Amino acid sequence: MVQIKNEMRISFRAESCNEALARSVVTAFVMQMDPSVGELADIKTAVSEAVTNSIVHGYRGTKGNVELLCRILENDVFYIRVRDRGCGIEDVAAAMEPLFTTAPEEERAGLGFAVMESFMDNISVRSSVGKGTSVIMKKRILSASLVKAGAAEDERC
Ligand SMILES: Nc1ncnc2c1ncn2[C@@H]1O[C@H](COP(=O)(O)OP(=O)(O)O)[C@@H](O)[C@H]1O
Ligand SMILES: [Mg+2]
Repeated sequence: MVQIKNEMRISFRAESCNEALARSVVTAFVMQMDPSVGELADIKTAVSEAVTNSIVHGYRGTKGNVELLCRILENDVFYIRVRDRGCGIEDVAAAMEPLFTTAPEEERAGLGFAVMESFMDNISVRSSVGKGTSVIMKKRILSASLVKAGAAEDERC
């Protein structure tokens, strides 16, 4: 069993003004892990893409909530699940292909999943039509272990 060292859950209305809120809350939580500027930027971008997808595609202007579950796992791994109870995705594999979009008229590039995949270590998507979508992403915060190693080094001095 993977040990969960800390956990946070928030739920907010699927309104685009809450995208910035999601980024800020996740940033505040991840800061405990001493991420580098680059690691933090990667996480913020990936979270933004997933939250935007829930709001834009999942609910398509209808009312609903987006839920974030954030965890700090053992070995300095950051875990996040972005969940909506929206329309769901018919073919997840196709949706995850770069350039695939069902909203070309809104000038969506179809690169959201590609960005999430490249900025995080691991992504898994579970979706069911009419029930909603969960995107689970993980990223190991490498700078955290460096900080700890540095602190141990300082103690030895
Ligand atoms: N939470 C979601 N609910 C429903 N459909 C989704 C969700 N996330 C992604 N999709 C589907 O997957 C497609 C690809 O998503 P993405 O790679 O982010 O590209 P884009 O958002 O630019 O269309 C979307 O066009 C949409 O059809
Ligand atoms: Mg997208």
